[in-house]
Amino acid sequence: MNIPKEVTIIEVGPRDGLQNEKNPVPTATKIEFINALKAAGIKQIELTSFVSPKWVPQMSDAKEIIDACLDSERNFVLAPNRKGIERVYDTNVKHVAVFVGVSSSFNEKNINKTTEESMSELQPIIKELKEKGYFVRACISTSFYCPYEGKIDPADTEALCSQFVEFGVDELSVADTVGMANPHESYELFERLHNKLEGKVLITGHFHDTRGMALANIYACLQAGITRFDCSSGGLGGCPFAPGATGNVATEDVVFMLEQMGIRTGISLEGIAEAVDLIKPHISRPIGSKMYHLTKQTM
Ligand code: HMG
Ligand code: MG
Repeated sequence: MNIPKEVTIIEVGPRDGLQNEKNPVPTATKIEFINALKAAGIKQIELTSFVSPKWVPQMSDAKEIIDACLDSERNFVLAPNRKGIERVYDTNVKHVAVFVGVSSSFNEKNINKTTEESMSELQPIIKELKEKGYFVRACISTSFYCPYEGKIDPADTEALCSQFVEFGVDELSVADTVGMANPHESYELFERLHNKLEGKVLITGHFHDTRGMALANIYACLQAGITRFDCSSGGLGGCPFAPGATGNVATEDVVFMLEQMGIRTGISLEGIAEAVDLIKPHISRPIGSKMYHLTKQTM
């Protein structure tokens, strides 16, 4: 099998991991968490999101997080619309993530627009961001299944991804929002995207682990030539507008699997466990990852 020597992990814990957490997490704790993740070797990271504080109160301290944590690596902030982009322009952020669902029903629940309306709004925004020198990542939700519409046709996901590439994005983060994809479906979709778009855009897998299939899906993606994965330390995460979805695949579980396979990640398991220790008292559900608990036993 053609296995890569190195894989890039994009940490989404401070954003995807926390946005679904009902209890407000103190801003100072979020900052400590992010600093600890960076100390553990994380370079690419979603710091927070510029969304409506009424829709997602947990992200209302986005500006303070950016002011405290932004460094010269790929530090992403999510922005769904023009207002979010205006907020980006008030900071030194240079890496922006936009997000759209393949399923229009999901998109309406998540951003209050149809997929088509979101794409029409984003096209000129992405053009403008690229002209200003920003790195743009497009997060593609419900790429496999939708909590409202059921199974998604891979051709629809491919079409939306291709449209984003035409708009000029640098990266596609292709998401199994509800954690329903199986390894066979993951291989098929990512091979298709890899064959069509490799060289034109970075392709990243984003798996929620609702049914315990995320690691198997990542292994399937490796075989399809994918070398970039979004992960969340402690397995935190979920979208408030995707009922039934649990956390992202845990960074530490992915790092362990890859390193055991001889694939470098540059990330320390002990360092991630220390970061999870900081955030754990503020999280309302148990830490479900395997390697957090095992690493703690040997520290
Ligand atoms: P809306 O209510 O239709 O917005 O929400 P609006 O344009 O009508 O504006 C209403 C109010 O919100 C106004 O304020 C605006 O200024 C304000 P008011 O006059 O009432 O005081 N507003 C904003 N404030 C701050 N930042 C903004 C912003 N935009 C408007 N950017 C909106 C539309 C998009 C704002 C809302 O639906 C929203 O914030 N949605 C975000 C939902 C979200 O964060 N979801 C989770 C992230 S996506 C995800 O997790 C999936 C992913 O992980 C991949 C996967 O797993 O699938 C990426
Ligand atoms: Mg997600």
